[in-house]
Amino acid sequence: MTPHNDRSALAKKFAQYKADFPILSQTIHGKPLVYLDNGASAQRPMAVIDAEQRYATSMHANVHRGVHTLSQRATDAYEGARERVRSFLNAKSSNEIIFTRGTTEAINLVAQSYARPRLGPNDEILITWLEHHANIVPWQMVAAATGAKLVVAPINQAGELDLAAFKSLLSTRTRLVATSHVSNALGTVLPVREIVAAAHAQGVPVLLDGAQAVPHFALDMQELDCDFYVFSGHKLYGPTGIGVLYGREALLEEMPPWQGGGDMILSVSFQGTTYNTLPYKFEAGTPNMSGAVGLAAAIDYVDRIGLADIAEFEQDLLVHATHALTAVAGVRIIGTAADKASLVSFVVDGVHPHDLGTILDQDGIAIRTGHHCAMPVMDFFGLPATARASFAFYNTKAEIDQLATAVASARALFI
Ligand code: ALA
Repeated sequence: MTPHNDRSALAKKFAQYKADFPILSQTIHGKPLVYLDNGASAQRPMAVIDAEQRYATSMHANVHRGVHTLSQRATDAYEGARERVRSFLNAKSSNEIIFTRGTTEAINLVAQSYARPRLGPNDEILITWLEHHANIVPWQMVAAATGAKLVVAPINQAGELDLAAFKSLLSTRTRLVATSHVSNALGTVLPVREIVAAAHAQGVPVLLDGAQAVPHFALDMQELDCDFYVFSGHKLYGPTGIGVLYGREALLEEMPPWQGGGDMILSVSFQGTTYNTLPYKFEAGTPNMSGAVGLAAAIDYVDRIGLADIAEFEQDLLVHATHALTAVAGVRIIGTAADKASLVSFVVDGVHPHDLGTILDQDGIAIRTGHHCAMPVMDFFGLPATARASFAFYNTKAEIDQLATAVASARALFI
C-alpha cells in the first residue's frame, strides 16, 4: 500500500466513481440506495456492461472452433481476457489461468482433480475455522471418497487464525492446505505468506480462496508463491458465472481433466481420447466468453483506479465504520482482527439480524444478514447469524453514517 497522506484528495478521487455504476443511482423504497453488500456481489461499472455488450453485438461466435471471422474474434477476445487475468495476477504463463464458473467451481476442480486421486486413509487436508462452505464441503466430499481426514486449524476470539496451532497441525500426513485469504464472514486477512512458507517447508501445496481478497488488494502469484489461487468475477465488479483457477503449471500438468467434453480433447475415438494441453484440458464445453471479456474489463477498470489506492481508501472506510457502529448502543462487532478487509460483521442486542436487514432495507440500505455460508464461524461465536456491511470503493463515510443511524433507530424499535 502506498502511503497517501492527503485523505481529502483520496476521498475526492473516490467520490467520482459511483457515477460509473448505473445501478447505484436508483432509489429503494423511495430512499437513495446505499449498497453495502459488496462481499456478496459487487456492482458493475458501465465499462464492464459496455464490454459485454460490445462482445455480444460484434464478436460473438463459438471459440477455438471456427475459421470464420466471428469465431476468430471471439477466440481473440476470450484468450485476450485470459492474458489480462494472467498479467493481473502476475502468473508466469497463461497456461496457469483456467476459467471456471466461479470460486466454488475452481475449488471443486482442485478437490476432484488434484486431491481425490492422490489422497487415501491417513492423509489429511488442513483448512481453518474461518472457511466459507465452498472451502469446506468439497474437501469433505474428497475425504468421504478417499478415507482422508479434514483437519481444522483454530481461531481466537478476535477471529484471527491461531498460526502456531496451524503450524503444529501441519504434519507428514498433510497433503494439502486450503485456506481463505480473507474471511467472508469476519473480514479477517489471513497470514497467507506465513501459511504458504510453513506448508512449503513440509512440501505441502497450498490453495488460497481469494474470493474476498481480490477486490481489495493487488496480488502477485509469483511473490505469494501459493500453488492454487481461486476467485470470482462478480466480487471484482465483473459478471457472475465467471471465475478463475490459477494453478502452478507443473501441478496442473500432472492433474487429470475434471470434466470431459468438447474443447478439452485433441482427438477422440472409441478406443480412447487424447486430452488437450493446458489450459483447455480443464475447460470442457463452450466457455463463458462474454463473462471472461467482462472480467477483463473489470480488471482494466480497477487497475485504472489503482488497487493500492483502493486498499487505502477502503481501510479508511473500515476504520470509520468500526467507530460509527461501535458508538451505537447495543452493537457488538464480531471479528476484531488486527488485519481486516473492508467488511464489518456485527450483532445488535435484542434485534435478530434478519429483522435488522429488513428494517434497513426500508431505508434503502442493503446489507447481508445470516450465516454468510460460514456456519462454523457462527458456531464458534455462539451466534445463529450476524449482520454484515461490506464496503467497496464507491461507498462513502456519509453512507456509513446513514447505516449507523439506521441501526440505532432499528434498535430503538425493540427496546
Ligand atoms: N460468499 C458470498 C458472501 O460472502 C456470497 O456473501
